[in-house]
Amino acid sequence: MGTLHERNPSVWVATTEETSYPALAGDLDVDVAVVGGGITGLTTALLLGQAGARVALVEAGRVAAGTTGYTTAKLTSLHGLIYADLIAKHGTDKARQYADANQAAIGAVRELVEGLGIECQLETQDAYTYTTEAERRGDIAAEVEAATTLGLPATYVERTELPVAVEGAVRFTDQAQFHPRRYCLGLARALIDHGVQLFEMTRALDVDEEGERPVVQTDGGAIVADHVVVATLLPFVDPGGFFAKAHPMRSYAMAIRIDGPVPQGMYLSTDSPSRSVRPVHLDGEVGLVVGGGSHKVGQGGDTTQYYADLETWARQTFDVRSVDHRWSAHDYVPVDSVPYVGRSPRSSRTMVATGFKKWGMTTGTLAGMLITDAILGRDNPWAALFDATRLDLTHSAQTLISENLDVAKHFVGDRLATLGAPPVEELARGEGTIVTIDGERAAAYRDEASVVHAVSPICGHLGCLVTWNTAETTWDCPCHGSRYDHEGRAIQGPTVKDLEPKALSR
Ligand SMILES: Cc1cc2nc3c(=O)[nH]c(=O)nc-3n(C[C@H](O)[C@H](O)[C@H](O)COP(=O)(O)OP(=O)(O)OC[C@H]3O[C@@H](n4cnc5c(N)ncnc54)[C@H](O)[C@@H]3O)c2cc1C
Ligand code: FES
Repeated sequence: MGTLHERNPSVWVATTEETSYPALAGDLDVDVAVVGGGITGLTTALLLGQAGARVALVEAGRVAAGTTGYTTAKLTSLHGLIYADLIAKHGTDKARQYADANQAAIGAVRELVEGLGIECQLETQDAYTYTTEAERRGDIAAEVEAATTLGLPATYVERTELPVAVEGAVRFTDQAQFHPRRYCLGLARALIDHGVQLFEMTRALDVDEEGERPVVQTDGGAIVADHVVVATLLPFVDPGGFFAKAHPMRSYAMAIRIDGPVPQGMYLSTDSPSRSVRPVHLDGEVGLVVGGGSHKVGQGGDTTQYYADLETWARQTFDVRSVDHRWSAHDYVPVDSVPYVGRSPRSSRTMVATGFKKWGMTTGTLAGMLITDAILGRDNPWAALFDATRLDLTHSAQTLISENLDVAKHFVGDRLATLGAPPVEELARGEGTIVTIDGERAAAYRDEASVVHAVSPICGHLGCLVTWNTAETTWDCPCHGSRYDHEGRAIQGPTVKDLEPKALSR
């Protein structure tokens, strides 16, 4: 998981050193066990360590190599168009809490960067959500009005530095961008300075809450703790059923060099497909990260097409000199637009943080702040809004039902659809698909050297059939987003199991 061996490393991964913290080898007893070394787990572990708690963090792969290493790293409270919707669905008070909490998270990152002296290209930027469709100007105006009511630094603008026919945009001033891996590697170093024990290549397999104190079972030993924090993007142990309350959406990004003026500001369009733009430092010059395209994990069809579409848009929009890096990643979208953070349902000592909706640079940081306060018994004014035990379906029942019908459709439909799967011999070079081997179904990939890699197609999480991701050469699960490399090794949860290898013939 998160081991930096992705086929398409992000600009953040490509421009930072690989870490080599040790794997856990033996049992531990600590105050808090944190599972997951992305921005959420690292922030939580650091804040707890700074408060004097005895903390151990285990990461299945390498730190900041999951979604945090493949983000676009805008640090903003402007999350597309959200505030008018939050006011309509949750009321003004809760919408204000969301705004205040995210603004506070930006401040927290700034303080950590300054306090710890982390060199991570943190720069103040304005953030924009724009539309190129005249009929959506009203949505933009409504967002400006909502955000202004909530005290956010919002204005309506019709001109931006983008060479795009913008009809209208919300602008938030005093937001920020950074290099997320440099930031997280700085947090990791600070963890060690604060006595936090950090283990990489250590996969948590289960959390046992039967005894007086919870125990995290890992492949390197057991960790007994007073509290467990599950910061694994989607919880890998899930009595709260978050896999049914948040769905995994994948999208695409590129770091490009352009001739001509480089627009300042961080942009996201409301158009479909949406487009994202922000400046980035590339070997002494300023280029752009452009992003967009979106589909559910395992349901994108030929994923190379998303890169091709994004590059076509970039070339139509800018004078592109080179495409230096390209990558894709996913995050979980909660049914009611608000992340789940805090004590997990049906658990007394396990905390979770999930459903960041592609805004976890702020909300993952915020999760660290909320969980730290909850564990230390401190009141937090935003805790109730993000309460992970909530199940208010007033505005989300329809989404919840349709997302889970989609999962059920894949669970059953994909089995039926692959009944007539072709024999493995028909697999072309570079192709991956469900085939039959001796009459049994298998997930098989024939590499460019014509070697066939065959594994069981049954996802180790809840048993859906995986699908081939052409662009990343991975097996992706269309149900809840588990991903495996072409050899069947789990690279992203919620699964904790690899796909079983399949012999080519008996
Ligand atoms: C394309 C894209 C662009 C984005 N752009 C932005 C942006 O501009 N601004 C913004 O705010 N947000 C953005 N986001 C969202 C943001 O990147 C994520 O919300 C955030 O990185 C999530 O961090 P995390 O620490 O919760 O998860 P991750 O970074 O995924 O970390 C979870 C870690 O847990 C580990 N793990 C999993 N299972 C286990 C296990 N069983 N045992 C041990 N370890 C385990 C994984 O290996 C991983 O390292 C974007 C997301 C995407 C997909
Ligand atoms: S991720 Fe849940 S069944 Fe595969």
